[in-house]
Amino acid sequence: MATRVVVAADAAATVSETSVQEADDRALASIFSAYIVAATLWLLFATAVGILLAYKFGAPDFAPGAWLTFGRVRPIHTNATFYGWASLALVGLAYYVAARSSRTPLYSVKLAWIGLVLFNVAALAGTVALDLGYNDGNLEYREWPWPIRLIFLAALVVSAWNLIGTVARRSTEDIYLSNWYTIGGVLWTCIIAIVAILPWYQYGLGQVSVSGYYMHNAVGMWFTPLALGIFYYALPKLLSRPIYSYALGVFAFWTNLVFYPIIGAHHFLFSPLPWWLQTTAIVFSVAMLVPVWGGSANFLLTMRGRIRDMLHSYPLMFILVGVIGYLVGSTQGTFEAFRSLQEVWHLTNFTVGHSHLTMYGFVTFAIWGGVYALLPLATGKEPGQLGLTVHFWTAAVGSFIYVISLSIGGTIQGLDWINGLPFIQSVVDMQAYYVGRGVGGVLMFLSHVVFVWNVWRMTYGPTGKTAPPPSLAAAEGAG
Ligand code: HEM
Ligand code: HEM
Repeated sequence: MATRVVVAADAAATVSETSVQEADDRALASIFSAYIVAATLWLLFATAVGILLAYKFGAPDFAPGAWLTFGRVRPIHTNATFYGWASLALVGLAYYVAARSSRTPLYSVKLAWIGLVLFNVAALAGTVALDLGYNDGNLEYREWPWPIRLIFLAALVVSAWNLIGTVARRSTEDIYLSNWYTIGGVLWTCIIAIVAILPWYQYGLGQVSVSGYYMHNAVGMWFTPLALGIFYYALPKLLSRPIYSYALGVFAFWTNLVFYPIIGAHHFLFSPLPWWLQTTAIVFSVAMLVPVWGGSANFLLTMRGRIRDMLHSYPLMFILVGVIGYLVGSTQGTFEAFRSLQEVWHLTNFTVGHSHLTMYGFVTFAIWGGVYALLPLATGKEPGQLGLTVHFWTAAVGSFIYVISLSIGGTIQGLDWINGLPFIQSVVDMQAYYVGRGVGGVLMFLSHVVFVWNVWRMTYGPTGKTAPPPSLAAAEGAG
């Protein structure tokens, strides 16, 4: 009799444990989906603005009203892609990865929702402020008026707290590599955002160096580690094999942390900033090859011998392009930092090509790979094969055309200036390359429309066949 009571109690406990776990999984899936849906809408909006911007290079008199002038619309594009699209998507992915790889529920679902609201309020208010002409001036990627940047900072703090809380109560012994990168990224970005908001030193040359520090750390200590965190989780999961070397991943993390923060001055070579500061930035830009090549080798060696699998899996193809974008874009950055090459490329469209090779070819492709690998596991819903195919190829071909056009055009532009040709000659010489950028941009934008459809399928669409296959579930938290 007593045994039967104990068995019944055990069964009841198991049932209630299962339903608690199901509720946790559902909460995680809806948070993850909400971040991705919001990010996707920002991507669509921000890149529609990007198309308008690109068009204005060929037809400067198009849409001349104050609200659509280049000066207002450009920072709307850059801030909305940075803080609406990439930041929201990366934080949503980081939550999913932190909870799954730590085999624990999210520390606080409520905080995650609060963070989502704060991120969106900041992006919305920032966009409206910029369009009304309220702009913090000459500080790139922090043009939002400072009270709005405070809202973004609050969202960051909330996210950092929630991610750390989740990893702190992990049921695994080690902190999985991805979480080193994501927690490092959010903590570091809280520091960067505070430095960028404090008014001290923000005048004269002090302002210039803080601006370089902010710009490069925003890309290097925010987007980069969070995107690398996705690679470290999604690759082993999709390939059902552990990452090639955990130690190499940790080494790349620490070298990234040591070298990245000091390279901001390479944005202001030949400026009145102290020469030694510029030289230090160049030296550390070269040192960046260590984490970049170390990290990329780790990903490529994890993929070795599996080319056939890669070709049959679009999530893996997105990740492969992302890894190549990281390797090529960052290596290009090192070369760009040399004085001899800065002389040609600085202030030209070559830099815009570099920005899109990295923020698009690396970060955006990494996000897409992560979303296609992980969102179906969270929601049990899949995108269609046609949608995946069209998205991948239009985005890949479009961004290739975009980057190649600006890299060639930007080099010609720089050489024209060095050769002392009249400025207007460099504008004439750029014409064909601007058209190339426009064609690539339209393809990229079309791919985003397809992505919206795919995200809809993975969130609100019909339930698919996807349940986490046992092999993938086993790789969860693999290290
Ligand atoms: C349809 C896709 C896109 C188009 C057509 C597009 C177009 C443009 C244009 C025309 C500019 C202004 C360049 C200039 O001032 O010379 C620009 C700047 C920029 N865009 Fe995009 N963009 C797209 C997607 C993205 C995405 C997804 C991101 C980030 C994730 C991004 C990040 C940036 C950045 C960082 C800059 C500033 C570049 C610099 O100063 O070097 N763009 N974009
Ligand atoms: C780690 C190696 C990297 C190095 C050494 C490097 C170097 C550089 C240099 C020298 C410039 C300035 C170009 C100029 O003003 O003439 C630049 C601009 C830029 N880089 Fe990189 N880069 C690296 C990686 C990345 C990555 C991974 C990203 C994105 C995630 C990125 C995003 C950007 C952006 C958006 C700009 C334009 C900034 C502006 O508006 O002036 N870079 N980079």
